[in-house]
Amino acid sequence: MTKASLSKNNRKLLGQKVKRLDITNFKSRGVDKTRPFLRYPGSKYNASKYIEPFWTDLEFEEYREPFLGSGAVFFKMPKKKISILNDVDEELINCFKVVSDKALIKRMKNDVFKINPSKEWFEELKKSTPHDSYQRALRYFLINRTAYSGIMNMPNWGFHKTKSVQPNKWSERLEKSFEKLKDNVEITSLHFKEIIEQKSNKKVWMFIDPPYFNADQKRAYTKSFEIQDHILLENTLRKTKHKFCLTYDNCSEVIELYKWANIFEVEWMYHTANSRVTTRKKGKELIITNY
Ligand SMILES: C[S@@+](CC[C@H](N)C(=O)[O-])C[C@H]1O[C@@H](n2cnc3c(N)ncnc32)[C@H](O)[C@@H]1O
Repeated sequence: MTKASLSKNNRKLLGQKVKRLDITNFKSRGVDKTRPFLRYPGSKYNASKYIEPFWTDLEFEEYREPFLGSGAVFFKMPKKKISILNDVDEELINCFKVVSDKALIKRMKNDVFKINPSKEWFEELKKSTPHDSYQRALRYFLINRTAYSGIMNMPNWGFHKTKSVQPNKWSERLEKSFEKLKDNVEITSLHFKEIIEQKSNKKVWMFIDPPYFNADQKRAYTKSFEIQDHILLENTLRKTKHKFCLTYDNCSEVIELYKWANIFEVEWMYHTANSRVTTRKKGKELIITNY
């Protein structure tokens, strides 16, 4: 499916499917102040105020996030009875597992406190190949905090002596994240399909944030996400009985794929990373739901 394959008329009809999301009269019922411990390309930290209206009035006991990244929505949302957090990136998930472990988080907080980041230190860290899960998680976290825009795929040095969040604050973020992650949270590294298809005897709400349809996040993640993955995601979501809220870049291909669902258009600021640099852009995004 390409842009060219959609006729002008078809595109006009699809346009009518899309409603504008207006949150001016929305009153928050309160969000958690915990900030994600990682920086992440495509993080929904700033955009979560547009997602909040979609969870706030729903009753559910089980939360699922199959495309976790930094877990910005998980950290913002008041905690549910069960949370299932998943990402195909094993190093990212290893880091989450270590941060949710009582003994290891203590060690990590002490270790990161002592760090004095420099470009030379960063280059040495990148070359290191630790094998045990604690050291791998520590390496992941440190590169993430000091790399340009938190991009972990071929990371470049990007720490600023005054403007960046400093190592003493890293420990605080780790501690708060641990408090949220320590109980009733399952952390896995599976394909998204397995997470969406898991049955439950509870009411489930899923926040689904796949890589963008258009290629401007190509460099951002370690695993690529191709057209067939977008189609598989649509097929899986079409069949699910669980409620979901999906975010995407606003393009006619996505609207065509999800014309059976509710589609809202919204504008928020986001980072793009399609080359050696990232830029902040105001982009039109889509929020898609099945309820
Ligand atoms: C847009 S990011 C998620 C950002 C996240 N919502 C946040 O606020 O930080 C998309 C994530 O999907 C993950 N991913 C890519 N392919 C996947 C797959 N097949 N199954 C599960 N996760 C996948 C990537 O590793 C990446 O972390």
